[in-house]
Amino acid sequence: MTLFTKANGVRAMLCLVGMWVLFSAFLSYIDNKTATYSTFSRLSIRHVHRFAKTVNVSSDSYSNKSSKGNDILTSGNQAAQLFDVGAQIVGSSLSQQNNISKKYNQSKNGIIRTIKNQYSVSLKYGCKEPQYDENEGPISPNTTLESLDIVEAELAPLLKPGGSFQPHDCIPKDHVAIVVPFRDRYAHLAVFLRNIHPFLMKQHIAYRIFLIEQTNGRAFNRAALMNIGFLEALKIYPWDCFIFHDVDLLPLDNRNLYTCPRQPRHMSVSIDTLNFKLPYRSIFGGVSAMTREHFQLVNGFSNSYFGWGGEDDDMSNRLKHANLFISRYPVNIARYMMLKHPKEKANPKRYENLVNGISKIEMDGINSIKYNIYSIQEFSTFTWYLAELKIVDQTS
Ligand SMILES: *[C@@H]1O[C@H](CO)[C@@H](O)[C@H](O)[C@H]1NC(C)=O
Ligand SMILES: *[C@@H]1O[C@H](CO)[C@@H](O)[C@H](O)[C@H]1NC(C)=O
Ligand SMILES: *[C@@H]1O[C@H](CO)[C@@H](O)[C@H](O)[C@H]1NC(C)=O
Ligand SMILES: *[C@@H]1O[C@H](CO)[C@@H](O)[C@H](O)[C@H]1NC(C)=O
Ligand SMILES: *[C@@H]1O[C@H](CO)[C@@H](O)[C@H](O)[C@H]1NC(C)=O
Repeated sequence: MTLFTKANGVRAMLCLVGMWVLFSAFLSYIDNKTATYSTFSRLSIRHVHRFAKTVNVSSDSYSNKSSKGNDILTSGNQAAQLFDVGAQIVGSSLSQQNNISKKYNQSKNGIIRTIKNQYSVSLKYGCKEPQYDENEGPISPNTTLESLDIVEAELAPLLKPGGSFQPHDCIPKDHVAIVVPFRDRYAHLAVFLRNIHPFLMKQHIAYRIFLIEQTNGRAFNRAALMNIGFLEALKIYPWDCFIFHDVDLLPLDNRNLYTCPRQPRHMSVSIDTLNFKLPYRSIFGGVSAMTREHFQLVNGFSNSYFGWGGEDDDMSNRLKHANLFISRYPVNIARYMMLKHPKEKANPKRYENLVNGISKIEMDGINSIKYNIYSIQEFSTFTWYLAELKIVDQTS
C-alpha cells in the first residue's frame, strides 16, 4: 500500500497540469467575455464614475438659424414652459434626494436665477453677448473638494446629456466644444465642472464638455488628446469654436467669454500661481481658443510631445507660420486660478522637438494621429472618451 509510487506521482502531476490548463482556459474565456470591462476598471475616470447613469452618445441637434427659423420661434415661445419643466425636475430631484439638495439648494437657485434672467431676453433673435458692468466681472470659484456624484446631481437638471448646454431663449451664435485633456486629476474634475458649467451657462453659447482621458502606460500627451478631442467632437456636431482647457484652471472673471474671435485667443493670460503675469509673449498653454478652420489650417497640435511642456509653444509656432497671431483679453479679465497639484515631469526633448517642429507641420498633427477609443460615455456633466495613443514616443 504505497500511495507514493512513481506511477501515482506521474498521475498526480498530469492531473495538476490538466487542471491548470482547464483553469487558464476558463480564465481567458472570462477575460474575453469581460475584456471591455476589465479595460475600463484598469484605465478609467477613476473606475468609470460609478454612480452615474450613462447613455449612448447622441449628436447635438442645436438650432439652425437659416433652415429652422420657424421652429426657433416656436421653441422660443416654449422657452418659458421649458423653464417650468426644468424647475419641476429640480423640484422632484429635491424631494428624492433631500440630503443632497438641502446642501445645494442654494447654489441651484443661484443658477436657476441666472437662467431665468436670460429668459427676459427677446426669444426670437440671436443671442447677444452678455453685458457686464465694469465692476461685475470678478467671480470666486468654489474650490471645496466635492464628489462627482454630488456635482452631477446639482447640475444635471440644467444640462443636456453629455454636459451639453444650449440657451433656451435665443439662438446661440457660438457652438463651442470645450476639450479637456485628462489623466489622474480626478479630484480636480469635480471642482472644474462645478465651476465651469455655471460660468458657461451665463454666456449665451451652445457648448459641450469633452473629457479626453489617456489610457495608462505611456507619458501624458496633452496635445494628442486635444487633437483627438477635436476629431471626436466633430463627429457629434460641426462645432465652429474649440476651447482647449486644462482641468486645473478656473476662470476668475465673467467677462472672459468662451468664444472664438477672428484670431486664435490665448485665454489663461494671468494665473494666480504665476503672480497674474504673462510669462512670455508667445505662450499658448493652459486655456486657448481656436476656430475649426484655424485648427485645420495648422493641422492641429503636434503629436510628438510626450511629457510636460513644449506642445503649446509648438502650436504658437504653427500659428505664426500660418500668419495668424495670438489675441488676448486684458490681464484683469483673462484671470485664472490654478488648482494645486504636484509638478509634472518635463519632457527632456521638448526644445529639440520645437526646433524641428515647423518642418513637420504638414505630417504631424490631426492628419497623422493614430488612436483607439476604448469607451465613449455621456455623463450628465461631460462626455468622456478613453483614448489609447498609437503614436511612437520618440523620447523614450
Ligand atoms: C446603445 O447602443 C447600442 C448599440 O447601438 C444599443 O444596443 C444599446 O441599446 C444602446 N443603449 C442605449 C441606452 O440606448
Ligand atoms: C444649417 O442649415 C443650412 C441651410 O439649410 C445647412 O446648409 C447647414 O448644413 C445646416 N447646419 C447644420 C449644423 O445643420
Ligand atoms: C442621501 O440620499 C440618498 C439618495 O436618496 C440615500 O441613498 C442616502 O442614504 C441618503 N443619505 C443620508 C445620510 O441620508
Ligand atoms: C429649496 O428652495 C426652494 C425655493 O427656493 C424651497 O421651496 C425648498 O423647500 C428648498 N428645499 C430644501 C430641501 O431646502
Ligand atoms: C463651497 O462648497 C461647499 C460644499 O462643497 C459648501 O459647503 C460651501 O459653502 C461652498 N462655499 C461657498 C463660498 O459657496
